[in-house]
Amino acid sequence: MENTLSERLSGQTAVVTGASSGIGQSVAMALARAGANVVINYGTRREPAEQMAVDLTKEGRQAMTFQADVSREDQVARMFQAAIARFGTVHILVNNAGIQKDSPVVSMSLADWQKVIDINLTGQFLCAREAAREFLRRGVQPEISSAAGKIICISSVHEIIPWANHANYAASKGGVLLLMKTLAQELAPHKIRVNSIAPGAVKTAINRSAWSTPEGREGMMKLIPYGRLGEPGDIAAAAVWLAGDDSDYVNGTTIFVDGGMTLYPGFTSGG
Ligand code: BGC
Repeated sequence: MENTLSERLSGQTAVVTGASSGIGQSVAMALARAGANVVINYGTRREPAEQMAVDLTKEGRQAMTFQADVSREDQVARMFQAAIARFGTVHILVNNAGIQKDSPVVSMSLADWQKVIDINLTGQFLCAREAAREFLRRGVQPEISSAAGKIICISSVHEIIPWANHANYAASKGGVLLLMKTLAQELAPHKIRVNSIAPGAVKTAINRSAWSTPEGREGMMKLIPYGRLGEPGDIAAAAVWLAGDDSDYVNGTTIFVDGGMTLYPGFTSGG
């Protein structure tokens, strides 16, 4: 029998990094409500992570929290060990944790360059490596999913749009693009799918300074043909689809969920 929409990920376990706020939080909630067990990873914000787990448990979902810095090899390994100890295995990784430390290139410190690369790029590598090891160990369980595992990288429109004063961030997301594609190519024969979601301007804490003032919002709107900011739920909907078998033939691609930000809106009247 076909699974209903709310059960389409039942029997699967998802690790979502950076899940205590913003896009990660919304993705983790949506995966859980689609039936997945979720591991809510957080770096520092313990309380909202714990609250999410409590809320999901009240709804009859299975959730656990795990504090780990995704850029630390030992902590990532421990997170996957804990997930496997609790739920038996892992089927879905959402590589979401990401930060910005913005400045003009001439004043960007090496520390700020490195920190952003460490979390946004190395963190995705470390988590993907750990997930892939588990997917390979377990193999396909046809009653659960056609794939042995799914990795969803949360990238950004800045994997292709250059971004002045954000060299570290844009470089990290450009790196995610080819990390994702290379992993997809390498792991496809093992029935592991790797894809990215590239959000545009989604209303979260990371870009609050831009959307919280009228001038900032106006500037952002000029970059969004569809005429509204994104909501975390816009990204979560795409993540649920990529995590399930409805997208079984989708591998190694980026889905832009950006209201048209990548359509060169400056050319609407120029050129
Ligand atoms: C950044 C946001 C920005 C958006 C569009 C995202 O990847 O994190 O700060 O608003 O891209 O430029």
